[in-house]
Amino acid sequence: MNRGRPGSGPLRTGLIGAGRMGSFHAATLATRLDCTELVAIADVDEERAASLAGDLGVPRVYADAEDLLADGQVEAVVIAAPARAHAALVLGALEAGKAVFCEKPMAVTSEEAEQVVRAARGSRLAVQVGFNRRFAPDFVAAREAAANGELGSVHLLRSLTRDPGLAAPERVPAWTIFLETLIHDFDMLAFLNPGASAVEVFALADALVAPAYKEHGLLDTAMVTVRFSNGALAVAEASFRAVYGYDVRAEVFGSGGMVTAGAPQRGAAVRYSDAGALQETVRADTELFADAYVAELSAFAAAVQGGAAPAVGPADAQAALGIALACVESVRRHAPVRVAGDRAFTGPGAAEGSEVMTLTP
Ligand SMILES: NC(=O)c1ccc[n+]([C@@H]2O[C@H](COP(=O)([O-])OP(=O)(O)OC[C@H]3O[C@@H](n4cnc5c(N)ncnc54)[C@H](O)[C@@H]3O)[C@@H](O)[C@H]2O)c1
Repeated sequence: MNRGRPGSGPLRTGLIGAGRMGSFHAATLATRLDCTELVAIADVDEERAASLAGDLGVPRVYADAEDLLADGQVEAVVIAAPARAHAALVLGALEAGKAVFCEKPMAVTSEEAEQVVRAARGSRLAVQVGFNRRFAPDFVAAREAAANGELGSVHLLRSLTRDPGLAAPERVPAWTIFLETLIHDFDMLAFLNPGASAVEVFALADALVAPAYKEHGLLDTAMVTVRFSNGALAVAEASFRAVYGYDVRAEVFGSGGMVTAGAPQRGAAVRYSDAGALQETVRADTELFADAYVAELSAFAAAVQGGAAPAVGPADAQAALGIALACVESVRRHAPVRVAGDRAFTGPGAAEGSEVMTLTP
């Protein structure tokens, strides 16, 4: 349970990171939602922050996130800086007494994740992590089908992310495909398999989109198998280039049936000609998940204003990161790797042949 919010009126938010995702969130906080107000923007690129603030009529701009965190007008912080800055920014925000919405991933090491989980618990402030797919109606429906028993016992799950393009392969940090892309799929698999946790992974990854960058550490294509504590088996896959657009899908298959979620088609219209049938596809995350990105910030504001715990928080992010880090280890060792934090698994392969990863050393 989080502390209640003393004030009334729109939640006064500050944005850290005015890039591609931050700009979308800024417009949501400033113009799409009535329950929020955007009062400050910080970016190390101060001109970028100032330009976005000018577009949206935001009164204060900072080059240093610390200054935004010290701003008494800011009640809650939305973090959309690059991944490796997230954990320190969340910790700084909690220290400053602000509720936090942090883009995924919340952290990139197990030590950072543990620190954030503890700090969030100790602060009793709302901390939400940007797993936006949990706010998309078809993924919510899939979760309900898995949770209400209509699928029987869950046997197989699947989640995939195919990004539309890889513009600057030289700028992709090592292990991004697991820590920043598939982290969505690892969270989705957990969301779709309620009550179960991942116990073991085997990951294969390569640079098939931009092979020349493999020697610099790029991995742009990956396939992961995951075994869950309830015995369910799952596949997560990602590619950094799908020529047809942005494609995110999931599936749960159980003893009583199957549910699917996600589709790359832009709408139901199909144009027919002598060449065949053509259906347009979605080209960007901010198009496919526009409503979900708005819904997650609306839910965050409601949680802060109502003193409730956000629907998706640090423990969920820590669980997803645990799978991602096990995948990194699996690729390094070319072997199955146990995911930390679950000791209940007693199925085949649990005892022999698999390596154990720990979240806290
Ligand atoms: N949920 C999703 O579907 C989704 C989609 C895209 C991006 N993201 C996440 O959003 C985050 C940002 O991604 P992006 O594509 O907008 O990146 P981006 O590079 O476009 O923007 C990042 C911005 O942060 C600024 N910045 C860097 N360090 C900073 C710091 N210490 N303090 C303040 N500002 C700083 C940069 O100058 C830049 O303007 C990433 O964590 C990414 O994983 C999530």
